[in-house]
Amino acid sequence: MAVERTLLIIKPDAVAARNAGRILAMIENQGGFTVIAMRMERLTVDSARRFYEVHRDRPFYDDLVAFMTSGPCIPLVLERGDAIAGLRELIGATNPAEAAEGTVRALYATNVQNNAVHASDSPESALKEIPHFFPEVAVEVS
Ligand code: RTP
Ligand code: MG
Repeated sequence: MAVERTLLIIKPDAVAARNAGRILAMIENQGGFTVIAMRMERLTVDSARRFYEVHRDRPFYDDLVAFMTSGPCIPLVLERGDAIAGLRELIGATNPAEAAEGTVRALYATNVQNNAVHASDSPESALKEIPHFFPEVAVEVS
């Protein structure tokens, strides 16, 4: 199982609800991920639009950008064997109503938009998303 790096964002809803610490504890203890980089920042509209560029033609794009810029978020680079698929499993489905019991979104998401966290969905996404926030951090594990 290859050691990988992936991007997690603790979204503005989870930061505002003071769930960041609980989510980070799940990531470290239950998930077994190592934190490689982390900071808190409030996204600019330009940064949020570029980050979610893949969704620019979706009806929820403007609302998503407004949500992601509504307050500070916490982007992190995480490392583990099979990190990309493993983190998607730990966060659960996009819509918390469909998220498996015990996942981050089942526990901390409010609805399909305000869903507590983002995680890279593929190696190609991680390759773009890690440098979006952490250009100084290597995507590949040496
Ligand atoms: P993410 O990119 O944030 O990790 O979430 P995801 O892969 O599970 O879901 P994706 O389809 O990529 O959607 C990105 C984010 O857009 C918001 N969304 N709103 N109103 C809606 O129907 C809707 N659908 C998606 C969510 O914040 C979702 O995480
Ligand atoms: Mg996505």
